[in-house]
Amino acid sequence: MKTPATDTISSFSLAAMIRSARRNYAEVRTHSLALTRSLTSEDQSVQSMPDASPTKWHLGHTTWFFETLLLAPHVPGYAPFDARMAYLFNSYYESLGPRLARPERGMLTRPALEHVLAYRQHVDAAVDNLLSTMDAAVAPTVLDALALGLHHEQQHQELLVTDIVHAFSRNPLFPAFAPPSGLLEIPRNSSGGAEWLSHPGGIVDVGHDGPGFAFDNERPRHPTLLRPFAIADRLVTNREYLAFIDDDGYRRSDFWLSDGWAAIHANGWEAPGYWMRAETLALRPSELPDEGWLSFGHDGLHALDFDDAVTHLSFYEAAAYAQWAGARLPTEFEWEAASTLPGMRQVADRAWQWTRSSYDPYPGFRPLAGAASEYNGKFMVGQLVLRGGSIATPPGHARNSYRNFFPPATRWQITGMRLARDA
Ligand SMILES: [Fe+2]
Repeated sequence: MKTPATDTISSFSLAAMIRSARRNYAEVRTHSLALTRSLTSEDQSVQSMPDASPTKWHLGHTTWFFETLLLAPHVPGYAPFDARMAYLFNSYYESLGPRLARPERGMLTRPALEHVLAYRQHVDAAVDNLLSTMDAAVAPTVLDALALGLHHEQQHQELLVTDIVHAFSRNPLFPAFAPPSGLLEIPRNSSGGAEWLSHPGGIVDVGHDGPGFAFDNERPRHPTLLRPFAIADRLVTNREYLAFIDDDGYRRSDFWLSDGWAAIHANGWEAPGYWMRAETLALRPSELPDEGWLSFGHDGLHALDFDDAVTHLSFYEAAAYAQWAGARLPTEFEWEAASTLPGMRQVADRAWQWTRSSYDPYPGFRPLAGAASEYNGKFMVGQLVLRGGSIATPPGHARNSYRNFFPPATRWQITGMRLARDA
């Protein structure tokens, strides 16, 4: 977050900044707990695969992040709530010491959920006290660390949802995640055929600069050359993707990248993640059909919604579908340049959209200082960029310059696609 230079902060603007920071902090932290309201403590302990973390771990890790990157450096003599937390809840920060291996997070039946919630309360009180008592000299660095911690927690709010949905997808009872009302309820806005929107290309600026928070991987803003292209005004739907399946899309190698062809065979994929054939399930609600495709999501098991965006695609499947459809995926720069075109639908409210761009540093990339330098930069190999945002992305979290990234075989995130083609 860009903040005014120390010497320009008057006591009046400092008071306003403190008020706003305390409010933002309380809102984001409360939202994480609101997401867990329908979950039992058993739900919150389970780890369904190495990539997915237990809810309880997300609650502890986001708290550890504030304790380690905000409180420890800025509160003189700060004593950690519980010295064991650093080992349990450090995710991947080599510079911050040893940690529990990621696939072992499901072993954390202890500390009890109550202890993790007490940890949150302890850190929340300490952060509020730090914000309330800071002076103008430290405010810029404290507010920068706070902003990073809040955007980090929002990223984990989305992971919390996708991780518990994955766990529930493995439960024969197929429970619904049932978030608080209003959450994840976004009009799908995908009706009608897709329209092609034209972009003239040329030298366009991409990336973030100016006021407002952005991660280091969105900087620096820089010019890039685009050829003229066209891009679909909405995401590919389940109905459209089913036509690819029914055309033997998963059995014809000519649509697939070599690694993708290997991946669908190694994993036995014949449809997007969370699509299930009704006749293969032992238990399903009585109102659901005996045959045909069902799909599972945060709202439980249901008949496939043909007009909704297809989701839980790997990059490989998105690329194969595009090939079958006589199109291609947009690059991340085409996506960003097109994101403000009149008529663009489902920009950031439905599903993350795979792009044809490797997750690489921008020219002139500089990671954040200190431990936060490990936040993004060290993951810049072997991953693809996704743009947009999903129904599980907290409101206000993503931007048109936002770069999400995952390995190409990832399917448990809410990942879909938008087609592009050369003009
Ligand atoms: Fe994290």
